[in-house]
Amino acid sequence: MAGLVGLDGRSAIVTGAASGIGRAIARRLADEGMRVGLFDLDEAGAKETASGFASNASVHTVDISDYEAVERAVAACEDALGPTDALVNCAGWDHAAPFLETDPALWRKLVDVNLLGPTNLTRVVLAGMNERGHGRIVSIASDAGRVGSSGESVYAACKGGVIALTKSVAREVARTGITLNCVSPGPTDTPLFANFDASGKLGPALARAIPMRRLGQPEDYPGLVAFLLSDEAAFITGQTISVSGGLTMQG
Ligand SMILES: NC(=O)c1ccc[n+]([C@@H]2O[C@H](COP(=O)([O-])OP(=O)(O)OC[C@H]3O[C@@H](n4cnc5c(N)ncnc54)[C@H](O)[C@@H]3O)[C@@H](O)[C@H]2O)c1
Repeated sequence: MAGLVGLDGRSAIVTGAASGIGRAIARRLADEGMRVGLFDLDEAGAKETASGFASNASVHTVDISDYEAVERAVAACEDALGPTDALVNCAGWDHAAPFLETDPALWRKLVDVNLLGPTNLTRVVLAGMNERGHGRIVSIASDAGRVGSSGESVYAACKGGVIALTKSVAREVARTGITLNCVSPGPTDTPLFANFDASGKLGPALARAIPMRRLGQPEDYPGLVAFLLSDEAAFITGQTISVSGGLTMQG
């Protein structure tokens, strides 16, 4: 079967590649013939993700909220794999609490990881893409950022911020051949969701509310991400596409 046009032989960076959705995306991009830079705090997890395609992988232990560390990791990754054609901002972190029980220390951590992390990666990688006149950026947002979500107000604000950042930068670079889009998951069966749903009651309740009657799985996302990174999506930019079994249906 023919793969998607414009992925084979190109290089991608995937943040959050040690787990969940990022792991599934990294593996799919490698299956499409891409060289993949795996960025995560969890080195062992990232190495485990890369174990099936080690010769086309480069693992970088990095905190995406640290701009200088991101600059160093992108430079090291590009030394190993060549210029970055595609960036997938997938790393994220959440902590469940009603807004009135949260404080500035928690807000800062949420913003550092979920808003400034993708901003750092986008700023560093986009500079080279802009010089080369080609690039694809997909950020994993959240339906929390589109419709709101109880117990994760500041996380949702960050995801709304990522969507707005994506649209704004997409407008700035639209004539260069670089596109930026968001994929917006609904509740998905990963360690992040298990941590959010400590009681285990939220998952089944959400599954009943989702028109397709199940939570998302990491494998629900890589096909759309790969398409948006391909040449076949060259005329799509600044968009946010929900993948949530119909839980949210945006006009
Ligand atoms: N699981 C869900 O229900 C859900 C819903 C909507 C959106 N999302 C988003 O999907 C993305 C992937 O989440 P997941 O559910 O696969 O979670 P996950 O916990 O399985 O994976 C997240 C990865 O990000 C890494 N990470 C966290 N902070 C980091 C940092 N500062 N620097 C580098 N790496 C860091 C973690 O080590 C982990 O490997 C996130 O952006 C998340 O917000 C998830």
